[in-house]
Amino acid sequence: MAIVELDKIVKQYGIGGPIAVDKVDVTIGDGEFMVLLGPSGCGKSTTLRMIAGLETISSGTLSIDGRLVNDVPAKDRDIAMVFQSYALYPHMSVAENLAFGLRRRKFSSAEIDSRVTAVADILGLSHLLARRPAALSGGQRQRVALGRAMVREPRVFLFDEPLSNLDAALRVNTRSEIIKQHNRLGSTMIYVTHDQVEAMTMGTRICVMNAGRVAQIGAPLEVYWKPANIFVARFLGSPPMNLVTATLSTDARRAQNAELDAPLERWSNAALSSYAGRKITVGVRAEDLSLHRPEQGADAGVMRGRVVAVEPLGAETLLLVTLQSGAEVTARLPRQVAAVIDADVELFFPKDAVYLFDAESGDALPTVEETNRIVGAALQRRAHG
Ligand SMILES: Nc1ncnc2c1ncn2[C@@H]1O[C@H](COP(=O)(O)OP(=O)(O)O)[C@@H](O)[C@H]1O
Ligand SMILES: [Mg+2]
Repeated sequence: MAIVELDKIVKQYGIGGPIAVDKVDVTIGDGEFMVLLGPSGCGKSTTLRMIAGLETISSGTLSIDGRLVNDVPAKDRDIAMVFQSYALYPHMSVAENLAFGLRRRKFSSAEIDSRVTAVADILGLSHLLARRPAALSGGQRQRVALGRAMVREPRVFLFDEPLSNLDAALRVNTRSEIIKQHNRLGSTMIYVTHDQVEAMTMGTRICVMNAGRVAQIGAPLEVYWKPANIFVARFLGSPPMNLVTATLSTDARRAQNAELDAPLERWSNAALSSYAGRKITVGVRAEDLSLHRPEQGADAGVMRGRVVAVEPLGAETLLLVTLQSGAEVTARLPRQVAAVIDADVELFFPKDAVYLFDAESGDALPTVEETNRIVGAALQRRAHG
């Protein structure tokens, strides 16, 4: 069992210094693979280092399995960490590198041998045990670093961008290696990355961070399809979600201007009424845009603009379109595209592909479905509490 609970964790580097982590609340369940995702400098490593005990916690509480560990030294937390720059001991063989942590912890030779053999076997390192790190490829070295954490059989694994230094092919391999190990070991894992593909493919849940704060926590497809705010909507998705500012006409339940007409069927009148006549940000994902007018009767939305670039990527083609307002939108289209630069085009999208955000706060307007879910959960809590 290892449940890791962060309660309003704050990290301020130095008195009066910058706040790197600002009241982060997140509970990582037993056996969960939680990804901390966000741009460089958003506080991911700092959060991870506080969990590991390598950095002091300015305020808030950190508990593991219900036990407060704020002041427990790193070595007594039963946590193993794998870093981006995996410093292996250059003068030791792979076997010695794997065994080192166990020796220091005074495990018996028999126990060390059996753990090293087992982990080397799992990671495909058995034939390399006698080699020095200098004689290994980058991927093999990374596997040794992973193995060094695994032999300890810790309650919690922490990873800080462990794949960033690997080339693309190896990154994909090692990524699936880590997922396999997670499935096999069932340990709690917390994994830091700025790479949305890693986050989407590896995480059971993703905690998206922005400027030291939690922007949203949820299952990968949940944060992708139901972003809580513009930051998450733009950070997940490549190309990022298209955003257009428009004025809301609540009577017609549409967001409209000269370049956009979006039906707003997913929101209640109540949710929309407070925005009547005000500016609102409309979002549509690139893959939801199409050059084809939908069938008669289907109430779709449309954006109008001029093609500024056509980018064929083989499997698909990106169409960059500038609207009158200067907003640039990208459509992800099938590979054959009948559009040329400078052409005026209409980009259609289905009514259920529309997102709405408060133009000032950037927060998503909850849809009817979302509101029902929140109310339902609250009622259930009340019934049980
Ligand atoms: N030892 C430190 N002293 C002062 N500021 C730091 C220190 N380490 C990190 N920071 C700052 O804290 C913020 C978060 O950093 P970090 O946790 O490394 O972000 P990330 O891992 O998401 O890139 C950044 O603004 C960074 O400059
Ligand atoms: Mg970092």
